Amino acid sequence: MNDVFELGFGETKAEIALDRLPVQGAIPPWVQGTLVRNGPGTFRVGEQQYRHWFDGLAMLHRFTVANGQVSYANKFLRCRAYDAARANGRITYSEFATDPCRSLFQRIQSVFAPQITDSAKVSIAKIAEHYLALAETPIQVEFDPETLEAVGVFQYEPKATGQMTTVHPQFDFDGDQVFNLVTRFHRVSHYRFYRLQGELRPALVASLPVSQPAYLHSFGMTRNYFILAEFPLVVNPLHLLLWLRPYIENFRWRPERGAPFWVINRHTGELVGRYEADPFFAFHHVNAFERGDELVVDIAAYPDAGIVQSYYLNRLRDPNLEVPFGNLRRYRLPLKGRRATYEVISDECMELPNFDYRRFNMQDGYRYVYAVSINKQQRKGFYNQLLKVDVETGAVQTWHRPNCYPGEPIFVGRPGRVAADDGVILSVVLDAARGTSFLLVLDAHSFEELARAEIPHPILFGYHGAYFEA
Ligand code: CO
Repeated sequence: MNDVFELGFGETKAEIALDRLPVQGAIPPWVQGTLVRNGPGTFRVGEQQYRHWFDGLAMLHRFTVANGQVSYANKFLRCRAYDAARANGRITYSEFATDPCRSLFQRIQSVFAPQITDSAKVSIAKIAEHYLALAETPIQVEFDPETLEAVGVFQYEPKATGQMTTVHPQFDFDGDQVFNLVTRFHRVSHYRFYRLQGELRPALVASLPVSQPAYLHSFGMTRNYFILAEFPLVVNPLHLLLWLRPYIENFRWRPERGAPFWVINRHTGELVGRYEADPFFAFHHVNAFERGDELVVDIAAYPDAGIVQSYYLNRLRDPNLEVPFGNLRRYRLPLKGRRATYEVISDECMELPNFDYRRFNMQDGYRYVYAVSINKQQRKGFYNQLLKVDVETGAVQTWHRPNCYPGEPIFVGRPGRVAADDGVILSVVLDAARGTSFLLVLDAHSFEELARAEIPHPILFGYHGAYFEA
């Protein structure tokens, strides 16, 4: 039996390109496209170790499915942080929870200008015709989806002013618009919502002043509104300016603040309301929509921000670690009220949630959420099953196999589908017994395995990917 920690949080030995992976089972012939996944390619540089799951140097993985066959390639995202790490043999740029070793003198010198990573490893998006690797800094690296070569840092003009952004832009396909939220840290900080349209000139839609900005990984959007759930994991911007400790360690949990929801009209930029809610934390909004005079907001939520702590590698190394469970909550915001309430749709552990975004984003009547999860009978260790939740009934289906650790499930819908779950789920699974990974193809309806394509090496635990139809 292999060491799961070393397989999932070690380093990738090789960049390879294979025309044809061995496939067991049968991939439906209508699945024709490319899955690009992003995540860390190594947690080590020379003798040095990164500290947290959200650190590391970006690596892209491509799976192209055509006529039941799968080709594969992986490549580190070439960028300054990668080049410096390779050239110096040590960590040179600051990551989420790792700073390069610096003397006190260097630290003082670098105040106001820490070298923040450009290794954009968190997610993937196609905006206009550009394939982009996204980071929580506004640096987005364009890449070639076939060769995975970096094209360069993608520059918006004018630049969206701010230091941090979400890696989950929201798309309004009808309006051909893309929206994102950027936080600008300053004497008076601001949450800023931007719209991208046409020639990709960011236009400021709304700007909300804030004295202690929250750590925000995503936001909600409906036909008419932005929804910002302001979790009480907040930072004094001065502490970021001084940068005496790694980025995320400047944030503090302040549950006495609650977790207010801010609702903004996304057409006019007007603040519609602030809704009180008890403190909670989340990385991921799932879906949101308008129903009567209520906003419905589904979120993969935690009671507190302890999940951020549990992703430190020195904790993940412990095979007895119990990662805190997130669960799927449905918040309701009465447009004429003042307070958000919620119900738990499912108490199954849930992270990296996904749904049929293309068809159901912002739509009442969406039905299924897919996620990684931890089996209640196999509580210890990292995410070890895939989960499907029916948001109307709370019914769940799972895919769980011994020694298998699946990554983010991505729904690929059958063209012309009618049923809400007519499609397949693609997930990169680490098989710890074999010491390698495979691309799993599940029937989204039955949650039964249709096929798997075997990769000759292990793929580290990553975050987000995106599927592009051929
Ligand atoms: Co995310």
